[in-house]
Amino acid sequence: MAAKPAVLFVCLGNICRSPLAEAAFRREAARIGIDAEIDSAGTGHWHAGEAPDRRAQAVARRYGIDIAGYRARQIRQEDFHRFSHIVAVDHQNLAALNAMKPRDGKAELSLLLDHAAGYKGQEIADPYYGGDDGFDVTWAEVTLAAEGLARRFAEQM
Ligand code: 4NP
Repeated sequence: MAAKPAVLFVCLGNICRSPLAEAAFRREAARIGIDAEIDSAGTGHWHAGEAPDRRAQAVARRYGIDIAGYRARQIRQEDFHRFSHIVAVDHQNLAALNAMKPRDGKAELSLLLDHAAGYKGQEIADPYYGGDDGFDVTWAEVTLAAEGLARRFAEQM
């Protein structure tokens, strides 16, 4: 791969799914030796400046990762130039990204679970309004996809 990959994970609020995807991908990239810029953002603005949902923090902590210092932000036009890959957790957010993508934006857009074998086209369900166990499902799914995505970068290096 020519340039260092820059990967942005995107959900709606940037307090549940995309911070967990960011955490899982950071860990997997470090584990297999991929040097990448990694961040997450939300298509919505409501939670900007907030730390991840306490249930997201708790599930990450159970797997040994501290995400308490993450802060939510809304996606910006410049992200389509800064990042080589923007990865949406569901179809609604992917559609929002496609709608706001500038004509000369270089980022390749994709659906997160498209990077997990056997999950093509599927969405990471929003765990925000459910119970704590929903966050375990989210963690399992984002981990699977993060591993597939990291492997793809490793193959291109
Ligand atoms: P996320 O979850 O998109 O995975 O961060 C949500 C968080 C907040 C809201 C919706 C989804 N909300 O409507 O406030």
